[in-house]
Amino acid sequence: MRILGLCGSLRSGSLNAAVLRSAAELTLPPRELVVDPGLGRLPFFDADVEMTALPGIVAELRAAVGAADGLLIVTPEYAHGTSGVLKNALEWLVGGGEIGGKPVALASASPAVTGGDRARAWLAETLTVMGAQVIPQDLRIPQATLKIADGRVTDEPTRAALAALLDDLAAAVVEAREADGSFAS
Ligand SMILES: Cc1cc2nc3c(=O)[nH]c(=O)nc-3n(C[C@H](O)[C@H](O)[C@H](O)COP(=O)(O)O)c2cc1C
Repeated sequence: MRILGLCGSLRSGSLNAAVLRSAAELTLPPRELVVDPGLGRLPFFDADVEMTALPGIVAELRAAVGAADGLLIVTPEYAHGTSGVLKNALEWLVGGGEIGGKPVALASASPAVTGGDRARAWLAETLTVMGAQVIPQDLRIPQATLKIADGRVTDEPTRAALAALLDDLAAAVVEAREADGSFAS
């Protein structure tokens, strides 16, 4: 089972990138979590460019989404929404359609007590209109600077909640495959 991890923050010391890193480490065979190398490499979405000369990097992202059984998306909260970086990537993915029907789990980490709730709600709405299957379970990490250190989630209850979210996502993938007539371990 192949999960693709996308992070909405480009910051080197990103709390959300740390969540994705820990998620990858918590994912054991036969599952694998492949972390996207960085959404900052994508150009700004332009429908003219999409129609005339799709950038190779966009085609690669679409192929990676197409090859994934499910997605884990981690987002920072900026001005009560998700990041422009992540929204831009989703705009490129609308036209490809690869995300349609894919189970998607959302997580957010913020230094604030609200834990990125508004960013996840915002993302869930966008992904749902794109046809993704956003799973009902998600992960909020409030006061994240107390729970993440040296690029990893260090707080044990948060690590357990992250592992549980990965299990929920895997279960949704199996369910989607069974409904589809195929099987994923
Ligand atoms: C421009 C800007 C806007 C922000 N707005 C919010 C916000 O609305 N809610 C929130 O919880 N945190 C907000 N923050 C704080 C971010 O949650 C914090 O910088 C976080 O560490 C960003 O995620 P990252 O560590 O993955 O890069 C904002 C930060 C910046 C730079």
